[in-house]
Amino acid sequence: VKKITTHTLQKMKSVGEKISMITAYDFSFARIFDEAGIDVILVGDSASNVMAGHETTLPITLDQMIYHASSVIRGINRCFVVVDLPFGTYQANSKEALASAIRIMKETGAHAVKLEGGEEVLESVKRIVAAGIPVMGHLGLTPQSIYKFGTYTVRAREEAEANKLRNDAKLLEEAGCFGVVLEKIPAALAKEVSESLVIPTIGIGAGMHCDGQVLVMHDLLGINTEFKPRFLRQYLNLYEQIVGAVKNYVHDVKAKDFPNDKEQY
Ligand code: KIV
Ligand code: NA
Repeated sequence: VKKITTHTLQKMKSVGEKISMITAYDFSFARIFDEAGIDVILVGDSASNVMAGHETTLPITLDQMIYHASSVIRGINRCFVVVDLPFGTYQANSKEALASAIRIMKETGAHAVKLEGGEEVLESVKRIVAAGIPVMGHLGLTPQSIYKFGTYTVRAREEAEANKLRNDAKLLEEAGCFGVVLEKIPAALAKEVSESLVIPTIGIGAGMHCDGQVLVMHDLLGINTEFKPRFLRQYLNLYEQIVGAVKNYVHDVKAKDFPNDKEQY
């Protein structure tokens, strides 16, 4: 199999092939997504929400991200795997950021890290890139800053915030990022940024002009049923299907139908 690299992703942008990205947090789903032809798996700090049940991404630790990422790595053979640096492991200074990125690379076998922010984290991005670790940026609605924003609504609708985002995207590219996630910003702004950058943009709620798209697996598969933002296309209703299947199992056990003659030794 031909493994996806940062060069593959850059090439995809240059020939106009859109990049497909999905989150995964464990071995079994990573294997399924790799098999299904996904280009990039993101071990997102959204694990804090969908795996651990926290309200925000803030509580998840570096050790917990490393556990998820190392599980994902054992399931893939073609995908490029990016791991989120969790809140509090890179913001203080670039030395700490590099140390966190190195732990992820050494202890998981992942291919790249992602961190949130622009100018604020530029020194850290440069230092991690200088160590030979590919870095992905993340701008717009950055969930680790949710208490600063106070709301999960669309970002950069105002000109000042849009200008900062344009500038941050350029700075991240210049600092050596191989790509940047644009989360929940107007499609027109995402189009402009995607056209102005050489590196690929990956959108989530950022419209059709991004160079790729990313979704959280639980949202795409309908495991999360409460979360239905406009940007989400839900491809399955796994929640309903699993409830139905498990109800049938409960019924069969209670009815002494399972196991039957053929299902025992
Ligand atoms: O953690 C995550 O799932 C993410 C994506 C939504 C981009 O960062
Ligand atoms: Na994230």
